[in-house]
Amino acid sequence: MKVTVTTRSGKELIRGGLELHDSATVADLQESIHKRTKKYYPSRQRLTLPLQPGSKEKPVVLHYRKNLKEYSDGNSNNLTVVFKDLGPQVSYRTLFFCEYLGPLLIYPIFYYFPVYQYFGYKGEHVIHPVQTYALYYWCFHYFKRIMETFFVHRFSHATSPLSNVFRNCAYYWTFGAYIAYHVNHPFYTPVSDLQMKIGFAFGLLCQISNFYCHILLRNLRRPDGNGGYQIPRGFLFNIVTCANYTTEIYQWLGFNIATQTIAGYVFLVVAASIMTNWALAKHRRLKKLFDGKEGRPKYPRRWVILPPFL
Ligand SMILES: NC(=O)c1ccc[n+]([C@@H]2O[C@H](COP(=O)([O-])OP(=O)(O)OC[C@H]3O[C@@H](n4cnc5c(N)ncnc54)[C@H](OP(=O)(O)O)[C@@H]3O)[C@@H](O)[C@H]2O)c1
Repeated sequence: MKVTVTTRSGKELIRGGLELHDSATVADLQESIHKRTKKYYPSRQRLTLPLQPGSKEKPVVLHYRKNLKEYSDGNSNNLTVVFKDLGPQVSYRTLFFCEYLGPLLIYPIFYYFPVYQYFGYKGEHVIHPVQTYALYYWCFHYFKRIMETFFVHRFSHATSPLSNVFRNCAYYWTFGAYIAYHVNHPFYTPVSDLQMKIGFAFGLLCQISNFYCHILLRNLRRPDGNGGYQIPRGFLFNIVTCANYTTEIYQWLGFNIATQTIAGYVFLVVAASIMTNWALAKHRRLKKLFDGKEGRPKYPRRWVILPPFL
């Protein structure tokens, strides 16, 4: 089979095209492109079918596991595909690991080291019990997330653009430093003992629930990450589509009830709005995938992220 690979402007990426055997898959094609171009390793490549000029439709994206013949529309000897360079990529695990390692390391610096003298605070620094518990809580949270990244999540996308590492790290690392600075500050005023206990206890319960939600999500996929999207069921998923985000938001609320800083609440609002946007998209996707037509199950009625509001 002859495959012509063009760029989006219509130029040939590989002059003369590529010759592949009849049973070749999209992955084989990506490997052949890589061999000829060196720079474009498979996860950097996005291959689509060409659109008719002027068409407003979304192009069909070639799936790496599928056979090329499935895309050749009856003409099994010739296929034209459109190539897009997605830019340098990193694995999802690397992305998440970098995001979470920052707050895990930055937060204790504010607790253990005399950083506040560089901000002009001299004199004795008394550490309140709530600040010590907050450190344990915080480190447990990010350690848990790193462990989940490596041992629980089954990602469907192998890689993410390298630029996301810088954007996401800026978000997590800056907020980590901002909250750590305020919670560990020498002039920090602790909340009552009861409020602290309620906050941490509620937060921990939500962290454990969040972990259980991730186990339920994991079980929706095969170990190799395939299996697509399924209807999440069980525990809080029976009432809310993104129960993992719900418990994430509430565990930050617990942390904030116990520590009570403006920085912590700002992070809560920003994180909740980001997760709400994602949750709305995930809810829409599941409703579309499970529309109850042609034998497909119908997506049950559920809250999106924050019952009883949304
Ligand atoms: N504090 C913050 O700002 C913040 C922001 C975001 C996330 N988080 C935390 O990080 C955790 C992970 O975030 P995330 O955005 O990666 O969560 P996510 O997209 O909901 O999913 C976690 C894993 O489950 C898979 N999954 C989700 N829905 C599925 C379905 N219906 N069928 C099969 N598999 C499904 C995902 O697959 P895909 O690989 O296909 O997506 C992913 O591997 C969150 O639960 C939350 O605890 C915190």
